[in-house]
Amino acid sequence: MTAGLRDSQQGGVEVLRETATRYALLPLRLFLGVTFVYAAFDKLSDAHYLAGAADQASFYAQTKAVKAHSPIGWGLGPALDHPTFFAVLIAFGELAVGLGTLFGLWGRIAAAGGALLNLTLWLTVSWNISPYYLGNDLPYLMAWTPLLLAGTPYFSVDGYLARRAQRDRARGVSEQGIRRRSVMDGGIAAVALGGAGLLAGSLTATFGRTRKTTATAPSAAPQPTAASGGSGGAKVSVAAASVPVGGSAQVKDPASGDVVYIVQPKAGQYCGLSSVCTHSGCAVDAPKDGKLYCPCHGSRFDAATGAVINGPATKPLPKYTVTKNGDQLDLGAQQA
Ligand code: FES
Repeated sequence: MTAGLRDSQQGGVEVLRETATRYALLPLRLFLGVTFVYAAFDKLSDAHYLAGAADQASFYAQTKAVKAHSPIGWGLGPALDHPTFFAVLIAFGELAVGLGTLFGLWGRIAAAGGALLNLTLWLTVSWNISPYYLGNDLPYLMAWTPLLLAGTPYFSVDGYLARRAQRDRARGVSEQGIRRRSVMDGGIAAVALGGAGLLAGSLTATFGRTRKTTATAPSAAPQPTAASGGSGGAKVSVAAASVPVGGSAQVKDPASGDVVYIVQPKAGQYCGLSSVCTHSGCAVDAPKDGKLYCPCHGSRFDAATGAVINGPATKPLPKYTVTKNGDQLDLGAQQA
């Protein structure tokens, strides 16, 4: 091999290395951008997410479930007082972060927003996950850090504005003029992108909402009745007819306020299962096909026993005794 050919090959390798280094963050940026846009539309198109307190898969119910276990539980009061506002704010926040990241528009601000969202989710939804690396919000928080530090200088609106500023500088345009032009054009792009996102998100939330999770379980929704119990505490009952074999009815534990599913896995066999996931405190969906599903991290529990079918949860759902009393089912104490 001649020295000239060797030099040219080495030069080619150097160029490849430089190119790879320059664009090293593009795959991460693409992944985070797409994921946040997807997550936003997933929320806006899910009727459970924006449903009220009665729906265990709603933002309200999930927030209430994690409140007791979160180190920032004390600050979740406003989210519980105005759940629809905060649920929509989070979804549109994710959409703004995702679009800003994908288009590289104000990339550092978008990355800061993404990091803030994942920090909040880590401190609430993922806080009690053990070991910590099984939760996904902490890795997402870390994934935002490189974009926060480096911004989005390539294949981006930011990159275009920066290159144009360089050209203006070379032409002798004042720094003030360059800054004003960049801020104005960035603002116009943000309004255009934000407007498109707002329109698409609003249309999705208005016309595209479906009940697509397992909460469409074969559960009846009877009105539980409360009466004075033998021990002096409130006793909760439902009509036995509202709990068919394989179905469930939803009541509240009068002591804790937690939702309990009364189930009849086999004819004549009744028990209650807490809806509070033992992994990190999210509310599990109503039983379906013999299982209870936790929408937070995907744990599944046996609807007959509460046992874990698959994690990350490792402990079974707390069980309650249920006694048939004529045509009524009485919720008893939680079993040790
Ligand atoms: Fe994580 Fe239920 S809270 S699987």
